[in-house]
Amino acid sequence: MCGIVGTIGKTDTLPFLLEGLGRLEYRGYDSAGVAVVNENEIKIRKAVGGVSRLVEEVGRNPVQGNPGISHTRWATHGSVTTENAHPHLDASGRLALVHNGVVENHKHLREELVGRGHTFHSQTDTEVLAHLIGESFDQNADRNRSALVHAMQEALRHVRGTYAIALIHADLGRFLAAARSGSPLVLGIGKDAQFIASDAAALDGWVQDVVFLKDQDIAALDGESFHIAKVNGSEAAVPKLRKIEVEARATGKGGFPHFMLKEIHEQPHALREAMKGRIILEEATARFTGLHRTNEQLRDLKRIILTGCGTTFHAALAGEYMIESLARIPVECDYASEFRYRNAPLDSETAVFVMSQSGETADTLAALRESKRKGALTLGICNNVFSTIGRESDGGIGLRAGVEIGVAATKTFTSELLILAMLGLMLGRIRDLSQADAMEVIEGLDELPGLVARTLEREQIIASIAAKYATARNFLFMGRQANFPIALEGALKMKEITYIPSAGHPSAELKHGIIALINEETPTIVLAPQDEVFEKNISNIEEIKARRGPVIAIGSEGDKSLESLCDATILLPAAPTFLSPFLNTVALQLLAYHTAVIHGCDVDKPRNLAKSVTVE
Ligand code: G6P
Repeated sequence: MCGIVGTIGKTDTLPFLLEGLGRLEYRGYDSAGVAVVNENEIKIRKAVGGVSRLVEEVGRNPVQGNPGISHTRWATHGSVTTENAHPHLDASGRLALVHNGVVENHKHLREELVGRGHTFHSQTDTEVLAHLIGESFDQNADRNRSALVHAMQEALRHVRGTYAIALIHADLGRFLAAARSGSPLVLGIGKDAQFIASDAAALDGWVQDVVFLKDQDIAALDGESFHIAKVNGSEAAVPKLRKIEVEARATGKGGFPHFMLKEIHEQPHALREAMKGRIILEEATARFTGLHRTNEQLRDLKRIILTGCGTTFHAALAGEYMIESLARIPVECDYASEFRYRNAPLDSETAVFVMSQSGETADTLAALRESKRKGALTLGICNNVFSTIGRESDGGIGLRAGVEIGVAATKTFTSELLILAMLGLMLGRIRDLSQADAMEVIEGLDELPGLVARTLEREQIIASIAAKYATARNFLFMGRQANFPIALEGALKMKEITYIPSAGHPSAELKHGIIALINEETPTIVLAPQDEVFEKNISNIEEIKARRGPVIAIGSEGDKSLESLCDATILLPAAPTFLSPFLNTVALQLLAYHTAVIHGCDVDKPRNLAKSVTVE
């Protein structure tokens, strides 16, 4: 995991490093650090906490230099301490290195290095990389730039696992080297400086062209030109320069106290954007040009797999209901982390939709590569279409939700739901969905942004319910059909930002164990819109009430029965059944948000989490 920014230019690198790191904080914010070459010495500053803590440290203890490397960490090996923060030094103290990824054989490598007299100062897997490369460099009489590249080749051949690294050496002056295997790394070329970063978004405004480094690439930069070699010494392909449009960065909170609340309120707009130009009224269908597939090719598909992690996996689960009911094509959902290890049978008639808002989640990327290897069609659904998943998929669909800064996904989730609903519409129309039934779906979709806006108007009611139940020590969430994944998502939002243990279940499973959890102190949030299973939900509520469990019901406007039965009721705009998951999601996002605010939690940066999990 973690984010890397390195640069080499004509002036001090600190301002770029600190700003770039801030843009990469979505990859982790346990600690941050920077190293620069200054008058033939390596100078390092580190701080525990987010990039703002590093900025404070640099303010107290100023440093300048060129070239420079920097890192924002999400701890994998070794606790969150200054010693474990990157950059790490080699034995000579003259080579500094930052790393994203996991060195799987670090214990073995460390033992060997200790046996050769090396002393370690951290518990990280990363420090072995600095020591290995530094040792190999120091053994080379030349001690020049090519010697460092050779040292990297020599050292990295012994490394198992994943890495993106950037390093500088006090003896080599204006020289920065980087390498990748499994973890993303991009090289950026600006007018007066060159950059290395985990994600092109970190380089927004500073570079004209980027090169997406490939696995086993080693990049050597001197500020004016760059050279790419391979870890195994083979010839590297001619690097492809790409212009990159990075979406306008969400710089402020737009008057909201947190990015998360701003992003919750951006949902009507995000949903409109996701639909723009994609609904073809004359044919009563949806169209995604990025799929690069004809109707004939899509009609030949016999099976769809939706794979992703976290919130995105919940969107996939809801998508299964939508696509199967609209398109009558079998859909399977898999956690990407399980999919890659489960040896799923795939064939040319299966499409794997690889879903990831960031497009960088390591397990999801691995699922994409595994599916490709088995010859399946891989189609990405990403918010960042320039991401690794966006680039490596055979085709794809962009969410167009705009940058999401809050670590707990909100608007990207509802945009994912919408894309899957539109996908169901499109696949349905090339199968059995009639024009009339499709038009009903389209009319519903057309109303969706307005319905979400009206749901947001319930915020005060939801905030007061959050205040009433904020002291609860556990929450249960329940729903049926496509609202079951929404119950999972509601529970996940509550866990992520309030740290209150919460679990989502299918309502019908209540009797199979979950009912043992019901007591006077455990509120259950029941998703009970007016739909064909409404009466079943009422029965579940009765069962909970009979055991004195408090019930917060989320129902539909005009409902008379819920209020008399439940302890608290949130009535949302009446909507077609297939849209209720969207509205329920928004209500649950607000419930978790207001509960977290009451608890004084860091809503935008919950403890231990990262927006994008770039390690397995
Ligand atoms: C992390 C984030 C979640 C996100 C998940 C998948 O766990 O904290 O909010 O849902 O990764 O992210 P992706 O970018 O692949 O959708």
